[in-house]
Order: sequence, then structure tokens, then C-alpha cells
Amino acid sequence: MIPYMIAPSILAADFSQLGDQVRQAVEGGADWIHIDVMDGRFVPNISFGPQVVKTVRSLTDLPLDVHLMIVEPERHLKAFADAGADHLTVHYETCPHIHRTLQTIRDLGVSPGITLNPGTPVTDLRELTHDFDHVLIMSVNPGFGGQSFIPTTLDKLRRTKALLEATGSEAMIQVDGGIDPSNIRECYEAGATNFVAGSSIFKHANGITAGIDALRQALAA
Ligand code: DX5
Ligand code: ZN
Repeated sequence: MIPYMIAPSILAADFSQLGDQVRQAVEGGADWIHIDVMDGRFVPNISFGPQVVKTVRSLTDLPLDVHLMIVEPERHLKAFADAGADHLTVHYETCPHIHRTLQTIRDLGVSPGITLNPGTPVTDLRELTHDFDHVLIMSVNPGFGGQSFIPTTLDKLRRTKALLEATGSEAMIQVDGGIDPSNIRECYEAGATNFVAGSSIFKHANGITAGIDALRQALAA
């Protein structure tokens, strides 16, 4: 089996006990911690800023995967890098100079990622496949947790994998939105190896560790 990673999204955590929730995710076997940054402009919702990234940084040594759902992300890259982000993912749709933006992230010593909304074609990655370390294929429209997985994502993942292979890119494929035990295996078979999950982990009836275990069991099935 090709190695994979689970990245719990703290957007679905109980914020009244964020420290404890992050610790449970770490002890439960998380590989990365996914932090969703929303600005109320690119997406309707508003969530976290660099201060929350810095707080989570103080709680764990796991890689922090910061997903920037914000306009003009280049204005904030240094602040998130300084706060302790290991991976910074920008939306293709927010970056008129995406090549420069990815390079700026790398120059900050952070691993660059690019992400595509459900309506953005994979072919838009064509000139960039050697400029990012991972590509995040959104399987919901960004802005909220708890939405349903969009089934056409599976074909999009397959086309992403084909493009990366055709261009000799070793970038990792990540998927985010509505990931649960019913669809994670199909996403893996379609080419994803990094799985962001909020609700199915933090809102699992039997707790955070059980949520991570359920995803791993579904992947192994
Ligand atoms: C959506 C965010 C996701 C979100 C996923 O805009 O990018 O990371 O937290 O949450 P679930 O797993 O509940 O769909
Ligand atoms: Zn996300």
C-alpha cells in the first residue's frame, strides 16, 4: 500500500478546549494538523489567523498544514510562516501571479501547496507541477465544514494523478471536504494520499481517536 497521511482539520474541533482536542488528534495518530484560514471574502466564513497557528504550534511538533482561503494571500504568507506553518496552501483562484506566490512560499522555508475549487479545471496546473509540493483537490466548495463530498472529485483526482505523472512531478495529492469512511478508500484508489477530515474525526460519536481509526480501517479494507 502506498503510504498515506491523515490531516485532521481543527475547524470541526470544540474551540472551548482546542488544546485538548489537538492533543487528542496527535495522540490518536494524526500525521498533519490542518488549519483552515478563511477571510469572509474569498469564502463567506471567517475563521483563524496567524495567532491560532502559533497557538497550535505550541501544542505539537506535527507538521502544520495551513489552508489559506483568503484573497491576496501573498500579503500574509510571512505572518503564517513566522507563526509556524510547515505547509502553506494557496487557492489558484486567488493568485494572479501564482508562480511567484508559490516561489515566495518556498523562499520563506515553507512547503508550498496549491488548491483548486471544485469548478477549477486540473489543466490549470499544467505549467506549475514542479512548483508545488502538494496539490489539494477540494471535494466541497470551500468555506464550511460538514458538507457532502462531491462525487465527481474522484475523476478529478484521477486526472490530477495522470497530469503529475505525465509531467514527472512527485507532488502529493491531498483531498479536503466531506471525507469519511464511506469515500476515503475510493479517493485513495483515485490517487489521493493525504486526507483532510474535520467532521468525521472531531465529531465522531466515540471520540477523536475513534474517528481517525475509522478512516484508517476504511483505507485498509
Ligand atoms: C472547507 C475546509 C475543510 C473543512 C473540512 O472549506 O477546507 O478543511 O474543515 O471539513 P469536513 O471534513 O467536515 O468536510
Ligand atoms: Zn481545508
